[in-house]
Amino acid sequence: MIKATTEAPPLQVFRQSADSVVLNSEQNEIVRLKEEANAVLLCHNYQIEAIQQVADYVGDSLGLARQAAETDADVIVFCGVHFMAETAKILNPAKKVLLPDLNAGCSLSDSCPAEKLAAYKDENPDLYVVAYVNCSAAVKALSDVICTSGNAMQIVGKVPENREILFVPDQNLGQWVSAQTGRHMRLWPGSCYAHVLFTKESIERCRLEYPNAPVVAHPECVDSVRDLADEVCSTEKMVGFCRDHPSETFIILTETGMMHRLTRELPEKSFVVGPTSYCACNDCRFMKMNTLPKLLSCLQQQGPEIILDDQLIEQAKLPIERMLEWS
Ligand code: 13P
Ligand code: SF4
Repeated sequence: MIKATTEAPPLQVFRQSADSVVLNSEQNEIVRLKEEANAVLLCHNYQIEAIQQVADYVGDSLGLARQAAETDADVIVFCGVHFMAETAKILNPAKKVLLPDLNAGCSLSDSCPAEKLAAYKDENPDLYVVAYVNCSAAVKALSDVICTSGNAMQIVGKVPENREILFVPDQNLGQWVSAQTGRHMRLWPGSCYAHVLFTKESIERCRLEYPNAPVVAHPECVDSVRDLADEVCSTEKMVGFCRDHPSETFIILTETGMMHRLTRELPEKSFVVGPTSYCACNDCRFMKMNTLPKLLSCLQQQGPEIILDDQLIEQAKLPIERMLEWS
């Protein structure tokens, strides 16, 4: 008979292995096809390790948007989620932008449908809309400026004082920015299904095992979890914080893929994966839809491709360009 247990699963710790990376045949073929097509492979920090290993750039949403804005490649292969690839397309309408799985969405983006935002704006026409980049192109087109977790405070700080802000779609990031800047904002009630799985209790349990390890949390976590953190920041800033901090071990509260980036860049340090109430890891099911076979097929077929209406691109480009100008 299997006995039910309430014991928490053992914590996962990531450290750099001493072995050097040897690409497998699938990865080598991806690199060859990428060069043949003059394609650039942009990859978010949450992708699986095998994809990060063949990418030209691995980073956060802000870094990826900047890379997309500057690239001179003919094709952009985007290993991340749909809204990120859309942003790359909006910044490069003449280029082919590929995403290995078009179903790689985002719960946060889905929590703010464009029709609902349009209706809210109709009822409240004076609001200044600051949209977190985790939203659809149609929501971007309805916004005044875009921000990422890496520049949200800076962007909010630039909004004219006489305008009331509506922050969409992440209430947790919005709440954090509001607390940091002292700026009142109306918050759209959206959230990331993965980051809200961290709880005060699950992190306190983890801290009992690693009492001296600083806690680094993504701002999409709920406030009771952010309150336990030594640093709250975007995934890119996590690398800088852990590099500069004297500690050798850190508790990381974000998607598990981030541990590959951290161990690659900081091989002398260890990273404890922040546990949720029922699991020792926290994978985003959307980010993990991209796999090596899908990436290989995407390069072979030159698809699936992100296609957006020209008028939508024009409207969504303005607030993204404003963000790039302001940060
Ligand atoms: P970053 O821009 O901090 O990498 O965050 C993206 C994201 O989707 C977080 O869930
Ligand atoms: Fe969206 Fe959350 Fe996945 Fe980030 S981790 S892509 S916010 S569902």
